[in-house]
Formats: sequence, structure tokens, C-alpha cells
Amino acid sequence: MSTYTLDTSTSRAHPTPAPMRRLTVPKLQARKGGDPIVALTAYTTRMAQLLDPHCDLLLVGDSLGQVIYGLDSTIPVSLDMMCAHGAAVVRGSWHAVVVVDMPFGSYEGSPAQAFESASRMLKETGCAAMKLEGGEAMAETVAFLVARGIPVVGHVGLTPQAVNVLGGYGSRGMSDAEAKKIVGDARAVADAGAFAIVVEGVVEQLGAEVTRAVSCPTIGIGASAACDGQILVTEDMIGLFERTPRFVKRFDDLAARISAAAQLYAEEVRTRSFPGEDQIRRKPK
Ligand code: KIV
Repeated sequence: MSTYTLDTSTSRAHPTPAPMRRLTVPKLQARKGGDPIVALTAYTTRMAQLLDPHCDLLLVGDSLGQVIYGLDSTIPVSLDMMCAHGAAVVRGSWHAVVVVDMPFGSYEGSPAQAFESASRMLKETGCAAMKLEGGEAMAETVAFLVARGIPVVGHVGLTPQAVNVLGGYGSRGMSDAEAKKIVGDARAVADAGAFAIVVEGVVEQLGAEVTRAVSCPTIGIGASAACDGQILVTEDMIGLFERTPRFVKRFDDLAARISAAAQLYAEEVRTRSFPGEDQIRRKPK
């Protein structure tokens, strides 16, 4: 499997993809207890093109608020932002199931509000499913969406949109009471019809317990290797930031490499060694 090539003669951002069937929601749902689900976040077409051949699921996470827009949290992220980035990622992928996050304020009011937001996102992006945060309190909404043709990924444990209630981004489920609540949340969302559940920022034993407790696949982030899949924010995984959460493994150090490339470029511009003979075109004599 290879990424499709950009059509450099026309500079088209959306070249014809290699003929291939996209993975489907039921196929991912059937991966419970099977081959681990490989998931990463993507916000742009080019990143989606690079990640897609390696991933089963691409999440257009509302973490784009911090990663792309430099916001302090995911709370100010809007439906317009999610629609624009969701469409970009769908254009850059042809293999993975693309899931788009429902931003804060777009679904919590009522199931009807959630349907209105989700149907807009589905139409404008071409994605396959939505993700929304919350447990028991969101179960009715999950059932409402699924019954109306919108697949849903749940998200329990550390739910960043609730940062003001939680008081920070620390691990959840340290106390027995909180662990019990999180297992109950996951069960409620799974019973309501979520086809997968992101389990974020929980102690290892709880990540494993939630995975045993629900019939749909769990996708862990800062959770447990026992989850049915794993997800990371791509920019953390490739080392684009100096500081990353403890649970992130940096598979590269792109920040250092980008900085070195920019430094070299600056030097060559300043010394007039760029552009060189290879990059210029002289009029034939
Ligand atoms: O917004 C996001 O990127 C997420 C992942 C961290 C799971 O929800």
C-alpha cells in the first residue's frame, strides 16, 4: 500500500486516489479483542495523506484548537473549524475511517441539537462518524444519533472539554468511586450504540477494566496496552512540541529537524547561496 502521488503538474490538492475500499464502521467495530486499531489525529489534507496508509482510523480531534490554532483549551473550537478541517482530512484519505470531534457546545444541549450539528458535519466533511465526550449523561444523545444513521465514538475518562469541572488534565480513576463512575460511563455509551470508545488519561488497571466491561472496541490514549486500539495526537507523536504529556512516546523529533532546516535556509538566503543553479531558470542565449 502506498500514498497516492500529488499531481505536481497541476498542483491539485485532491488527486485521484488509488482505487481502494475504505474501511467501514462495522469492520472497525468487529475488531473488539482482535487486531489492535491504529488511530492518529489529523487536521490537514497533507498529513492525512501521509498517515492514512498506516492507520485504521483518523480522528479530526478538537485538539486542533491547541495544536493548530494556539488556543488554551478545546473549549473555543467551533463547528466551522471542525467542518473545514474534517473536509480537508477526508480529501487526503481513502483508506481509514475518518471520525470528526463534535466541538464543545454543539451537542450537549439536547439530542436534537446534537443531530443538527452532526448532520451538518457529516454532510460538509464526508466523514464516517462523530466523536463526542461524556458518559451516562450523553447516552440518550448517542442512541438518538445512532438511530438516525450517525455512527458515534464515545470518549470517557479524562474528557478535555470538561477541564473546568475536572480542574485540569491529570489522570482520572485514582479513587474507587471515580473508577466505578468511569466504567459506568463507558458501559452507558456502549449500550447506547457507540461503535468504539476513546478511553483517555486513566490509570492502567482502569483502562484494562473498561476494555473488559464493554462490548465495543476501546481506543486508549494514556490508558492501557490492553485497550483494543491506541490513538495519539500526531504532532505529539512526531515530536513537534518540546513538551508532551508523560504518556506520549515521541517517535521522531520533528521540532529539531524543522528548526535545523529553517536555520539552514536562513543562512543560505543571507549568504545568497539560495537560490542556486538548480533552482533558477536562465533565458536561453
Ligand atoms: O481531540 C483529540 O485529539 C482527541 C484525542 C486526544 C483522542 O480527542
